[in-house]
Amino acid sequence: MLRRLFAASLLAAPALCASAQDWQKRSIYQLVTDRFATSDGSAPPCDTGERIYCNGTWQGVISRLGYIQNMGFDAIWISPIVANIEGTTPEGQAYHGYWTQDQNALNDHFGTDADLKLLSTTLHEMGMYLMIDVVVNHMAATSLPPNYTAFTPFDEQADFHRFCWITDYNNQTDVEQCWLGDTNVPLADMDTEDDAIVDFFNNWIHNLVIEYGADGVRIDTVKHIRKSFWPAFVAAANVFSIGEVLDGDVNYVSPYTGVVDSVLDYPTYYPLYRAFNTTSGNLSELADTVKAAQSSYRLGEFMTGSFLENQDNPRFQSTQTDQALVKNAMAWPFIQDGIPILYYGQEQGYTGGNDPYNREALWLSGYEEDKPLVMHVRTLNAARKAAIAASDQYLNTSLKFLSVSQNTLVVSKPPMLTLLTNGGSASTPSWSVPDVGYAGDEDLIDALSCDTMKADKDGGVSVQGSGGMPQVRPDALCDSRDVR
Ligand SMILES: *[C@@H]1O[C@H](CO)[C@@H](O)[C@H](O)[C@H]1NC(C)=O
Ligand SMILES: *[C@@H]1O[C@H](CO)[C@@H](O)[C@H](O)[C@H]1NC(C)=O
Ligand SMILES: *[C@@H]1O[C@H](CO)[C@@H](O)[C@H](O)[C@H]1NC(C)=O
Ligand SMILES: *[C@@H]1O[C@H](CO)[C@@H](O)[C@H](O)[C@H]1NC(C)=O
Ligand SMILES: *[C@@H]1O[C@H](CO)[C@@H](O)[C@H](O)[C@H]1NC(C)=O
Ligand SMILES: *[C@@H]1O[C@H](CO)[C@@H](O)[C@H](O)[C@H]1NC(C)=O
Repeated sequence: MLRRLFAASLLAAPALCASAQDWQKRSIYQLVTDRFATSDGSAPPCDTGERIYCNGTWQGVISRLGYIQNMGFDAIWISPIVANIEGTTPEGQAYHGYWTQDQNALNDHFGTDADLKLLSTTLHEMGMYLMIDVVVNHMAATSLPPNYTAFTPFDEQADFHRFCWITDYNNQTDVEQCWLGDTNVPLADMDTEDDAIVDFFNNWIHNLVIEYGADGVRIDTVKHIRKSFWPAFVAAANVFSIGEVLDGDVNYVSPYTGVVDSVLDYPTYYPLYRAFNTTSGNLSELADTVKAAQSSYRLGEFMTGSFLENQDNPRFQSTQTDQALVKNAMAWPFIQDGIPILYYGQEQGYTGGNDPYNREALWLSGYEEDKPLVMHVRTLNAARKAAIAASDQYLNTSLKFLSVSQNTLVVSKPPMLTLLTNGGSASTPSWSVPDVGYAGDEDLIDALSCDTMKADKDGGVSVQGSGGMPQVRPDALCDSRDVR
């Protein structure tokens, strides 16, 4: 049985018609809807280990958009919106939104149709974009074999690939046609080779985007569906798409940059994490990975989403809490070629480990805005925006590694120069780079501290740092900013 859903109505929340180029200028705050804010502003206890709904809602998100915008973000990415399996499985409840049961209904734990539309229109009034997370690859069941009649609209076994667990990640057919999940929550794999199913999903995404005024879609489990499925789906969405291709290998991810607008930059994520996780992290590995991606992705690293944390991986501070290392690592997504994505809670210093511990309730932080990492994020967003405003080629200029040593990294993306170190807070790093391209004796300003300095007579830079802190130096970009 197939039926159209979210039929576009007069009540639809119009999108801002954002193009991929428009998204490139933006920075994205990723939140888990159930864990970000409650409708009435209450702060119930939320034990992440229990894996149950903690009652964050779309109304809650609306009430805290100012908190997000004050940090300089101009887009949010919310959890999947459709109805999920109800009840408590041995792996908890579907509070994260990734366990679809009914493609045609909203998840009413998060609010009503009107609430979601109000979120969209409120964002647009604030000049912000809405990115909705979508799952096409599978539906979630609570038994094996699944009770297919519980699914909507695909309620027959024939709508799904024949059951087999994915066992061989080197066999792409296995990855695309066998199932994710486990016996507690099997993820029944849609038969995305079937024309009727393909048509359904193309109509579905088209209508969903219009109905809720989405400016972009984040697509789950992209590598689990054949590549040739995606171009028509992305065209039907008719807004910016960013795909999750969960793999650390640039060569594996690269072909996907040809079938969706952009990808989450997993290949860079792993070496980024490792580079700053210890004072012996390998900065060359990070540089080499970025260079490989720059030369093999369809649009280099420009159309990637860069992140240090997300809902599927341990928070950075679960393994390293030295604030100098944390601040260096956090700077990366904001100074590289792609679109910065910050996972909610990082700015509050959250330390949760692997799923489910990395999905803490943000209300338990009190949404304080004067904490050091909140201010760090605000400064990083402001520095990036200043660089974009200062040069109309900034977003189209590939970053270059001017120097990579055991503990220091110098990254140039004119007019921005970034000096990073993984020496830690006990270190006194020094960076020295001849001929960065500045004018001789040019005045430079550290966008993080607003300290001033001069380039040397040949336009090079020598900086003595302290406390292992990163430095970001766009020339003369500090003036209009409110820093610290
Ligand atoms: C969420 O709401 C449900 C249903 O009203 C309630 O049983 C549960 O205790 C609430 N959870 C929290 C963390 O407040
Ligand atoms: C299967 O799902 C249908 C629809 O939700 C429900 O009516 C039926 O009781 C379920 N069957 C079993 C065996 O759980
Ligand atoms: C790859 O996986 C598919 C699906 O599981 C299987 O039918 C096929 O035999 C596998 N191919 C190889 C070479 O193992
Ligand atoms: C981070 O460092 C800790 C402590 O050295 C180590 O146990 C952990 O495996 C590292 N994690 C990653 C992802 O590199
Ligand atoms: C750092 O990573 C590079 C690969 O980019 C590798 O060639 C080098 O051996 C690594 N260095 C150390 C000390 O592990
Ligand atoms: C960057 O390049 C693209 C493709 O050539 C172009 O469409 C876009 O306008 C450029 N952006 C800027 C800021 O120059």
